[in-house]
Amino acid sequence: MEAEEEGARLAARLAAGGQGHVLRFWPQLGAAERRELAAELRGMDVAEINGFFRRARGGGGGAAGAPDGRMEPVPRDALGSASRDRGLLPGWESRGLAEIAGGRVGALLLAGGQGTRLGVPYPKGMCDVGLPSRKSLFHLQAQRLRRLQQLAEERHGQPCCIPWYIMTSGRTVESTREFFQKHRYFGLKKENVVFFQQGMLPALGFDGKILLEEKGRISMAPDGNGGLYRALGAHGIVDDMERRGVQSVHVYCVDNILVKVADPAFIGFCLEKGADCGAKVVEKTNPTEPVGVVCRVDGVYQVVEYSEISLATAQKRGPDGRLLFNAGNIANHFFTTAFLKDVVNTYEPQLQHHVAEKKIPHVDMETGQLVQPEKPNGIKMEKFVFDIFQFSKKFVVYEVLREDEFSPLKNADSQNGKDNPTTARHALMSLHHRWVLNAGGHFVDENGTRIPAIPRLKDANDLPIQCEISPLISYGGEGLEKYVKDREFRAPLIIDEDGVHELVKNGM
Ligand code: UD1
Repeated sequence: MEAEEEGARLAARLAAGGQGHVLRFWPQLGAAERRELAAELRGMDVAEINGFFRRARGGGGGAAGAPDGRMEPVPRDALGSASRDRGLLPGWESRGLAEIAGGRVGALLLAGGQGTRLGVPYPKGMCDVGLPSRKSLFHLQAQRLRRLQQLAEERHGQPCCIPWYIMTSGRTVESTREFFQKHRYFGLKKENVVFFQQGMLPALGFDGKILLEEKGRISMAPDGNGGLYRALGAHGIVDDMERRGVQSVHVYCVDNILVKVADPAFIGFCLEKGADCGAKVVEKTNPTEPVGVVCRVDGVYQVVEYSEISLATAQKRGPDGRLLFNAGNIANHFFTTAFLKDVVNTYEPQLQHHVAEKKIPHVDMETGQLVQPEKPNGIKMEKFVFDIFQFSKKFVVYEVLREDEFSPLKNADSQNGKDNPTTARHALMSLHHRWVLNAGGHFVDENGTRIPAIPRLKDANDLPIQCEISPLISYGGEGLEKYVKDREFRAPLIIDEDGVHELVKNGM
């Protein structure tokens, strides 16, 4: 009886919002399916979703039209560079380490995405890209945090911690938590790893009607990595940061195997510049590379996403021959906690959803059959994490070298030769190879002949030297002299907590 009453109440609410059709198959559903659907619908604010649809489809707010003609590159005075400003780097790093030692830095991982392009049935952070150690992306990131805490402690003589906030979604929450439990939080203290969940939104047809994935199930997807700001408020995360004394937060994507989590140089640079918001970039060299570009649109900082820029604009070159819009966003952001608090309390509702037209499998409302569309039939709405740049009072951009800091895992090995487990694995090993050379070590081939330190131009079969250094030993190439200086190694070389190992070739 109660269930029937609830059904009637839901039906009235949905009908009032023009979404009554989602209960079309209710009479055919079993008790468990009804319970699940009712639970999903109970948490859904239909009027709000309709409002999002109207705004996203251009019914108000936001600047209209393509951004191309209104874009300008980042001005020189907002830019710092880890390679060009080499002399300033130690100062920035020291400042960042002092902040970490004082417990004033947090790391925040965006891990709510579905990893559709990679096509694995588990969260991307759990991926093992085939490194000799078989460490997952989560594992590498956790160990980098541990090493950084250790470096800050050694420098400042006080124990410290970098709290790690991990945003999951309805799609990734359970497996992520289980993975961390199974691996005992990779040696971090459980109380310093804080999970929270972002929201979900239904997929809509072009007419704004909610789509069903099954007769008793709504087609839902996470609300984009900009769902972060609503989630921060809903789960009291900014309060948690304040309670812990965190003043600077490094927000980053899960899929970059080279990510320098809580990078002290980046944090130090942003603080030295008095910024409340910053973005780390690499030089974009290929106009069609799928990275957003940091720029100004109508004088306001933002990222123009790769899906939103025209080819003609992406191809424009400056007088030096480089791409005009070359500040490639690598989804590594700096925010002060105070800025995040303002965003949560004031600006979040002003953020507009981006619309992606997609082929969305759905149940036909007349026949009840599942349809796999061949062309886009509906939209997904997402907020983007960088959409808050516009509210910053002092925004800065920090450029780093791609080969040191950016190799994202987006595609499966079978799909194409870019941004896949193989390229990620090679990028990490080639970085570690360079660290060994910089610390005075050498590699020799099977005959004992030294391999030239300047890598040859790579061809398709030119594999990197296999070399992996545990993040617990080195965060960014530091401290390796005692292991490698004036020594010769035969690859594969592993340096970890148990020492230096030269492995027998295993055909990897
Ligand atoms: C992202 C950036 C793009 C940048 C590129 C670099 C955004 C919106 N775009 O693009 O500008 O050049 O990385 O690699 O940031 N995520 C969530 N919740 C969601 C959706 C995604 O937490 O609802 C997380 C993912 O888990 C991932 C990150 O956000 O860690 C990026 O998501 P993805 O969809 O892979 O972004 P890209 O399109 O590659």
